[in-house]
Amino acid sequence: MRSVGFWGTGSYLPEKIMTNKDFESIVDTNDEWIRTRTGIRERRIAADHEATSDLAFHAGQKALEHAGVAAEEIDLVIVGSCAFDMYLPASACLVAERLGAKKAAAFDLETACTSFVYGCAVGAQFIATGLYEKVLVIGAEVMSRIIDFQDRNTCVLFGDGAGAAVLGPVETGTGIRSIHLGADGSGGPSLYVPAGGTRLPFSASTLEKREHFVRMNGSEVYKFAVKVMGEAAFQALDKAGWTQEDIDFFIPHQANLRIIDSSAKKLKIPMEKVEINLDRYGNMSAASIPVALDEAVREGRIAEGDRLILVGFGAGLTWGSLAVHW
Ligand code: ACO
Repeated sequence: MRSVGFWGTGSYLPEKIMTNKDFESIVDTNDEWIRTRTGIRERRIAADHEATSDLAFHAGQKALEHAGVAAEEIDLVIVGSCAFDMYLPASACLVAERLGAKKAAAFDLETACTSFVYGCAVGAQFIATGLYEKVLVIGAEVMSRIIDFQDRNTCVLFGDGAGAAVLGPVETGTGIRSIHLGADGSGGPSLYVPAGGTRLPFSASTLEKREHFVRMNGSEVYKFAVKVMGEAAFQALDKAGWTQEDIDFFIPHQANLRIIDSSAKKLKIPMEKVEINLDRYGNMSAASIPVALDEAVREGRIAEGDRLILVGFGAGLTWGSLAVHW
């Protein structure tokens, strides 16, 4: 099997900033509560004309430029999200078309906030086996369209954005050194959108009950996240044959600073080695990790030869981790 690694990264954040203060006139909340409970100060909100595939397109384009790869060379486009443009067609097809990735296969992948990690895991298999050479993996979300701005439990947490990576073959022994993925459907009711699917199609009643928006049991998800973040990181380390001391940089899913803090403590990683962006962007679900990765790469916090651990978790419930020799 060939080694697979990251040839380039890119990200895109909508211009509009929504601060914690802005929520004070919308729901019964305040900046202090949001900051101290979550670590979030502000988030980006997509413009009315922007859908998930638009954000994905911009991030994908930047990743291609960074990798020095033309769109026509891409064999496969995977878009990970939980807020796609529409049921049909797949957002990945729209992105591939707009990029000019004419020979690429394209599909969407949905494991909520874990979608980028799953996407990299899936994309890497095609390259490792030799079927494909270059795969574009994108995590993109317009969470602001699926959250309820009347529900203070959820609306303050999320933000919009997109991050992308071009995967390709790399020198043997470098790149993605291990993959660990997991899912536990029994936790599905902790984080879900009740209506709009085949279980409960849209109706006047679902609209009135606001069932087309995200519902979350915050404390259940919190407990799950604290447990699974550390476990998934250790699984990736074990499978790569690394120890905690080998970690140069940790990129966790950005849902809550307290969750990140606790997993960094378990891994005994100082916070200087942990990428944080939720203070500026909130929880961008599938986009959190690739945006963090892109900013860390471009701002020089990750150097060639570094050993990284990426860990995601999300609705499903799902989780996933990658050990990457950069
Ligand atoms: N402003 C003010 N008060 C609030 C707000 C708010 N925005 N939101 C909730 N509260 C209130 C609650 O109503 C509750 O009030 P009550 O005691 O009168 O009922 C009180 O604050 C305390 O609520 P807790 O749930 O105990 O608060 P906690 O400290 O656990 O923090 C939080 C809540 C931030 C949601 C936390 O549980 C969390 O981060 N959970 C994980 C969420 C997460 O990661 N979700 C995304 C997963 S990834 C994906 O797939 C999309």
